[in-house]
Amino acid sequence: MNSTYTYDKNFQLGNIDNKVWSSFTEHLGRSIYGGIYDPNKSFSDNNGFRKDVKKAVKDLNLGVIRYPGGNFVSNYNWKDGIGPKENRKKTMEFAWSSIETNQFGIDDFCRWAEEVGVEPMIAVNLGTGSIRSAAELVEYCNHDHGTYWSDLRIKNGHRQPYNVKYWCLGNEMEGDWQAGHMSAQQYADKAREAAKMMKWVDKSIKLVACGSSYEMLPTYLEWDKTIMKELYPYVDYISTHNYNMNSGQGTLNFLSSWKQLDNHLKNTENALDFVKSLRLGKKDDKKDIKICLDEWNVWNFQDIKLDNLNDLAGMTTFELTSAKKWEEHPAILQEKYSLLDALTVGGLGITILNNANYIEIACLAQLLNVIAPITTDESGHLLKQTIYYPFELLSKYGRGTVLEPRVSGDTLSTDYGDLPVIAAATVYDKEKSQLKIFALNMDTSNTANLRLNFNAFDGVTPKKQIILTDDNLKARNTFKEPNKVVPTEINLNTTIDKLSLPKNSWSVIICDVNSIK
Ligand code: AHR
Repeated sequence: MNSTYTYDKNFQLGNIDNKVWSSFTEHLGRSIYGGIYDPNKSFSDNNGFRKDVKKAVKDLNLGVIRYPGGNFVSNYNWKDGIGPKENRKKTMEFAWSSIETNQFGIDDFCRWAEEVGVEPMIAVNLGTGSIRSAAELVEYCNHDHGTYWSDLRIKNGHRQPYNVKYWCLGNEMEGDWQAGHMSAQQYADKAREAAKMMKWVDKSIKLVACGSSYEMLPTYLEWDKTIMKELYPYVDYISTHNYNMNSGQGTLNFLSSWKQLDNHLKNTENALDFVKSLRLGKKDDKKDIKICLDEWNVWNFQDIKLDNLNDLAGMTTFELTSAKKWEEHPAILQEKYSLLDALTVGGLGITILNNANYIEIACLAQLLNVIAPITTDESGHLLKQTIYYPFELLSKYGRGTVLEPRVSGDTLSTDYGDLPVIAAATVYDKEKSQLKIFALNMDTSNTANLRLNFNAFDGVTPKKQIILTDDNLKARNTFKEPNKVVPTEINLNTTIDKLSLPKNSWSVIICDVNSIK
């Protein structure tokens, strides 16, 4: 089977913002405690930060890391997590029915983020939290000195402001599972007032409105239109979340779930276009709101007992995990990822690239231990799960300008309609004079041929192909066998019309470009 992708230098979809390769860590399970923070251990530094994790995270070269939630944030009082650790109180944490020790808080996170070279993206509590508390958090983080909250930050050990630029106005406020859940109009009103006050403290900050995520909710997209009519002048981004699950739909349908993400993103894009069209004649009618896909991943609910989504009514999702109630950082949602999951994540990454005209921030959810590419154990070992590799390669090579394709060739029949046998995205890196092609072969039985045409590019020569594959789609990495599924690199000696992709594979192909017309 073949797929032909044709590109033209002038058909540019958009530049990839460096925040497109970002991640998320929540006070949930062992994401923070045991993930980032493991004090008094030989493998941690003086701040209690795990050294192995710092290195692995640095290597990913991420744009932002979102913190502290997630569902957690809607019941979080950031003031409980600052100051001397011995004075910090233990609190009930309702999103995951655990005990929060508050030994890690905003200062710890900002310090850690500085060390790993990423920008923090902080979510404020708009569920049970007040707009005043949200503004005070901006003051604590960003005001230089001379006020109660900024001086308290200095007293707590950080003279310079953190200058946190990206702020999320709550999390999944559309959902009944969220503490302080409200209607779209109620959220719009509260978020508008929070935005005003937060920007009064620091007008340089960028704000993310909480868009709708769950397609099964009756408010899906109506929510976005309602809130954006109100929030358009105040915010810079709208968020959406998307998780893909392997739930018995068959290998091909799961592999092609990049198309579900694509449809999901197009829905948000259309809602944004609609709201923008209503602003014609207003002073901000040229303003573009971008998408912040601040949670995306494969999540197979390996640790959630849920037969029917209606069973969620009135509960937090996480009364349904394996944790006993009110444990301190229980080891929950520790998904184990297979090659099939990794190929699917690779397909989702391709879709993110192909929506680069709207997406400016995208956070793989999450980063550590919980639904995550990186797993740690309690004795100082770190494991890169299968999904780490496509994400690492996307972050490494997915920089530049995305070209818009014309696609032809053989198709496969899927739940999402007929799709090309190869899903692909191409990035032009002007600085390096390279074209980088990301490609997923969805044929699970045969090699597929990729044919590329590049109009107005001269002397395009394939140099290298990095391939993630294995005969066994269920293969995964374990602490005993950490390198079962890792990418392999081959030097290419072929032309752009003769590339081949093994069955069950995801590849990055790097081509040198001689010149462009
Ligand atoms: O990432 C896990 C949870 O998924 C987050 O807390 C929530 O925002 C989403 O539903």
